Amino acid sequence: MEDLGEVLSHLPHAQDPNLLVGTATGDDAAVYRLAEGVLTVHTADFFPPIVDDAYDFGAIAAVNALSDVYAMGGRPLIALNIACFPEDLPRETLGRILRGAGDAAREAGVVIGGGHTVKDAELKFGLAVTGVVEEASLLTNAGARPGDALVLTKPVGTGIITTAAKAQQCGEETLAEAVRTMRLLNRAASEAAVAAGARAATDVTGFGLIGHLTGMMRASGASAQVRLSSVPLLPGTRELLERGFAPGGTRANLDAANATTAWDAQLSEDDRLLLCDAQTSGGLLIAVAQERLGALEAELAARGADGAAVGAVAERRADGALVAASV
Ligand code: CO
Ligand code: CO
Repeated sequence: MEDLGEVLSHLPHAQDPNLLVGTATGDDAAVYRLAEGVLTVHTADFFPPIVDDAYDFGAIAAVNALSDVYAMGGRPLIALNIACFPEDLPRETLGRILRGAGDAAREAGVVIGGGHTVKDAELKFGLAVTGVVEEASLLTNAGARPGDALVLTKPVGTGIITTAAKAQQCGEETLAEAVRTMRLLNRAASEAAVAAGARAATDVTGFGLIGHLTGMMRASGASAQVRLSSVPLLPGTRELLERGFAPGGTRANLDAANATTAWDAQLSEDDRLLLCDAQTSGGLLIAVAQERLGALEAELAARGADGAAVGAVAERRADGALVAASV
C-alpha cells in the first residue's frame, strides 16, 4: 500500500477504532486489531515487469509486496497472487512468474493460499499479503522523533539500472547485482529494527528515498537531514544516470520533492535524481534513537543484513521543508 502526498486527500479516513493504521499517515500497510493483543497487517502490491526474466520478476514482485509487512515490523503469514495477463503471452510465462513468487514466499515462510488472474493488455503481477504484528513492535511512518538516526538497508539505483537494462544498455553484472538486492527479503532488516527498539520504518519503493523519507517526516511532524555521500549506490548507477538513463518516475519524484526539500546548492541535478530514484523492492529506511544506533547496527550484522546511517531526524524546520539534503 503506497499512499503519499496529494493522493491521501482523496481517500476516506476510516472511523473504525480497530483500524490502528489506515490511510492517514501514508504507511506501508494497514493494521487492524482483530482482538485484544492480536493485530493483523494487510497490503497489496502489483506492477508491470521491471526485468525481462519471468522467474526473477515473480520473485521480485513477491519480495516487494512482502516488504510492506516487514516495514510495519510485522511477520507475513499468507499471500494471494494477483495477476493481469495478456492473452497472447504463453502460459509458461505465467507459470515462471508464479514459481518465482512461490519460491520467494517459501523463503519468507509465507503460504500462498490462492489468488486471482484477469486478462489485461499489459502484464502485471504482485501479491495481497496478510501478516501479524505485536503492538510493541509496530513500526509506522509517524514514529520518528527528533534526534533519531536514519538507517537504510539496501543500496539505491534500481530504477536507473532497470531503465538502462530495458534499453539494452546495462552490463550483465550491473543488472545481476540490482536483481540480487531486489530479490532480498527485508525480513532480517525488520527483525533487527524491532530488536533494536526502533519505532519508525518504511520501505523505499516508487517514491524514492527522498519521497518516502518525506512521507515519514510529514506523519512524524519532524524534518530530516540526509547526506548523499552516506547513501549506498548500486555499482554503475551514477554512470548510467550520466548517460541519461532515469525513469519517468524518478524525474517526477524530483519535481515533487522540490516543493518540500531544502537542497544544498552543491548538489547537482544528477545528485538530486539519485536521491529521488524510484526503487522497486528497496530497503527499509529505519528511524532509531541515536543511542540505539549501535544496537541496530549489531542486530543487522547478526542477521547478515546491511545498514548505512544516511542522516538524522530533527525538529520541523522553520522554513517548512520536510527534508534537507546535502552532499
Ligand atoms: Co506498497
Ligand atoms: Co511500502
